Amino acid sequence: MHNNRVKGIRIHPIKKVQGEIQVPGDKSISHRAALFGGMAQGETHLTNFLPGQDCLSTLECLRKLGVEWERKDTEVWINGQGFEHWREPQDVLDVGNSGTTMRLILGVLSGCPFSVTLTGDSSIRSRPMGRVTMPLQEMGARILGRQDGKYAPLTIQGGSLLGIQFHSPVASAQVKSAILLAGLNAQGETTVTEPFLSRDHTERMLRGFGVPVISEGNTAKIKGGAKLLGQEVSIPGDISSAAFFLVLGSLVSQGELLIQNVGMNKTRTGILDALWQMGADIQVEDEREECGEPRANLRVRPAQLHGIEIQGAMIPRLIDEIPILAVAASLAKGVTMIRDAAELRVKETDRIAMVAQGMEALGADIQELHDGLQIKGISQLKGGRASSYGDHRLAMAWVVAGLLSKEGLSLEGMEAASVSFPNFLDLIERISN
Ligand code: S3P
Repeated sequence: MHNNRVKGIRIHPIKKVQGEIQVPGDKSISHRAALFGGMAQGETHLTNFLPGQDCLSTLECLRKLGVEWERKDTEVWINGQGFEHWREPQDVLDVGNSGTTMRLILGVLSGCPFSVTLTGDSSIRSRPMGRVTMPLQEMGARILGRQDGKYAPLTIQGGSLLGIQFHSPVASAQVKSAILLAGLNAQGETTVTEPFLSRDHTERMLRGFGVPVISEGNTAKIKGGAKLLGQEVSIPGDISSAAFFLVLGSLVSQGELLIQNVGMNKTRTGILDALWQMGADIQVEDEREECGEPRANLRVRPAQLHGIEIQGAMIPRLIDEIPILAVAASLAKGVTMIRDAAELRVKETDRIAMVAQGMEALGADIQELHDGLQIKGISQLKGGRASSYGDHRLAMAWVVAGLLSKEGLSLEGMEAASVSFPNFLDLIERISN
């Protein structure tokens, strides 16, 4: 279905999908499981860890900070000594493309009495870090970097911290997590309040590692001084990865897909609510909870979708799924409006501009808004040429658009998908044969 070319790959249209698949482990939960295992005392064992580039960056940074671990495929064993045993790395820490690695590790390092320099790829170096460095500086961390400590490379010198009451201007789990992790090392209590609730994996997993975190509405509270104890963590499949198959399975002409073991945390299931509202035929089966995170199997069948409005508190619940939702909206009946999503402009790429530009090139009727997108559904995308611009979620959204198009597409930059979904094309191939 796709052939390697000198530059890029070719995606041919399909009419049917069929089969059962498992998507890789959740990216957000994999980062946290590795990091908390590295901070804890005692052994931590992770199963279904995402071996994508982003989470491998977190593991590599931990190694440089003196944490011992071993990985075999999707299993990781971490020999935790407590983060009091972290030591000053001899070299710069490179987080690659991973904002979660950069922001969460900054939070922990704020309480470590040594100096570390962190950098990443060109995308990371253009993403806003002031949203974490400013509150961490207020707590007592010393952080220097480009543009007054707002852009990487960043150098942090941690030390003794004071708890703060922080009102974040953005709903961001990375900001919330960084401040809570610094709060673990701070004197007194630290609270983070956000305008809308962002994913709460940090709060849930910290409780699993023995740290009392209180969640009340959009506020999370932590007291300084608690210790983490090594755990057994089974990581659910990533709903953000499942989203590509939910949209594909909804919009092909025939077939049925079963996606097993998908994370069903309410702060992440906005994509399901949106697709249901659009008329999708998705069934939730075998709902269960393990390690503080709900999960289920999802069965999807083709359906006629229609346009909807998405805004406000819904946005953080599906922020990473907006590129693939735009593909669904472009093939739905009527107009879809996505508002309050200006955060998309500071993701791996400016996803408002890139989605509008990329979808328009494939024949969609799409308009860029300052904080979102307006998409008028058409009966079929034409296809053509697309580029990931180095953004994993764009690469995978374009593959789905190509599979659903009239003429298929030539795609450059597919390798970007490896940061969150290394076997994406293998699974696509398996279900479309
Ligand atoms: C993430 C939080 C979100 C999300 C990102 C992963 C996390 O980012 O877009 O892919 O693991 O905490 P923000 O915190 O910047 O909203």
